[in-house]
Amino acid sequence: MMFRSQIVGCGAYLPARIVTNDELAGRLDTSDEWIRQRTGIGERRIAADGELTSDLAFHAARQALERGGMSGNDLDLIVLATATPDETFPATAVKVQARLGMKRGAAFDVQAVCSGFIFALAVADNALRLGQARTALVIGAETFSRILDWQDRGTCVLFGDGAGALVLNAVADAGPTSRGILSTHLHSDGRQHDILYVDGGPSSTGMAGCLRMQGREVFRQAVQHLSGVVDEALAANGLSPADIDWLVPHQANTRIIDAVGRKLGLSADKTVVTIERHANTSAASIPLALEEAVTDGRIRPGHLVLMEALGGGLTWGASIARW
Ligand code: UT7
Repeated sequence: MMFRSQIVGCGAYLPARIVTNDELAGRLDTSDEWIRQRTGIGERRIAADGELTSDLAFHAARQALERGGMSGNDLDLIVLATATPDETFPATAVKVQARLGMKRGAAFDVQAVCSGFIFALAVADNALRLGQARTALVIGAETFSRILDWQDRGTCVLFGDGAGALVLNAVADAGPTSRGILSTHLHSDGRQHDILYVDGGPSSTGMAGCLRMQGREVFRQAVQHLSGVVDEALAANGLSPADIDWLVPHQANTRIIDAVGRKLGLSADKTVVTIERHANTSAASIPLALEEAVTDGRIRPGHLVLMEALGGGLTWGASIARW
C-alpha cells in the first residue's frame, strides 16, 4: 500500500516580547526606515531570559496536536528543525517528546538552518510514505536572538524568535488529487559556507558563536536557487504557477519573496507574508506563516500550497502540499 502524509493540525508560538525597529535604532546606528525598505521587517519577537527553543517548540506542538484532535502518545515520530538547540545534545526534539507525554516512537533534530522546516518535512514525509511511522510532528523552532552579534547592524536587525508545527497522518494514497504532501525537494552546496555561518560550535571554539553573513551574496543566490527549486517542484507534479493557491515562502526579505513571486508570475495577493511582524525566524518562519494563513481562513482544505526556503550551508528546498 502507498501512503501519503496528510496535514491534520497546525500550531504556532511567539514569545511575548516585541522589539520594534525604533527600539533597535535607540541602541544601534540604524533606522526603522532602512530596515523596512531593505527587508520589510517592522518588529520581531524575542524570547524571555530562560525561555528556550524547546519551550517555544512545545507550545507550538501542543497547539498543533490539539487542533488535530490528538495527544503526544498518538505520535510515532517528532522531527524538529533548529539551528539553535537548547543544548549541544541531546536533541531539542526529545525534550519536546517528554513534555508532550510521548513515551514511544522516536524524536530527533534536523539541522538545515533556515531551510530546516522543509528538510524536516521531507524526513517525516518519507517515513510516513514508507510506513515507518503513521503519525508525525514536524516542528521548526528557533531562538536566533541567542546567536546574534547585537553590535552588528547588518545582521542583528534581521532575525526573531518563534516556533511552528504541523501534525501529519499517513493515509492511503488515492492519487494526485488526494490531500497531503505531494513532494519535497532538497538541495545543498557546502562550498558556500562562508557567506552564512556561525563562528563557533562545540568542536571548534567550544562556544555557541555568532551569526555572520554576507547579505548581498546570500540575497543573489537566494533568488536564483529558490526560483530553480520552485520550478523543479512544479514540474515534478505536472503543475504550473497558475495552479498554486498559496505561496508560503521562508520569510527572510520581502525583496527576495517578491523577486521569486515575480519570476513565477504569481500575484502578490497569493503569497503569505509575515515578515513585517516576525522578522526572519529561520526554521520557524514557514510553519508560523502556515498557521496564520490557516487560522485566518486563507488556506483552506484542497488548496495547493507551495513552500520554499534557503538558508546557511547553503541549503535550499521546496515542497508542494494539497491542504
Ligand atoms: O534566512 C537566511 C537567508 N538570509 C537572507 O536571505 C538574507 C539575504 N540578504 C538580505 O536580505 C540583504 O542583503 C540585507 C537585508 C541583509 C542587506 O540589504 P542590502 O540591500 O543587500 O544592503 P547591503 O548589505 O548592501 O548594505 C547597504 C548599506 C551599507 O552601507 P554602505 O556600505 O552602502 O555605506 C550597509 O553598511 O546599508 C548599510 N546597512 C545598514 N544601514 C542601516 C547595513 N545594515 C544596516 C542597518 N541599518 N541595519
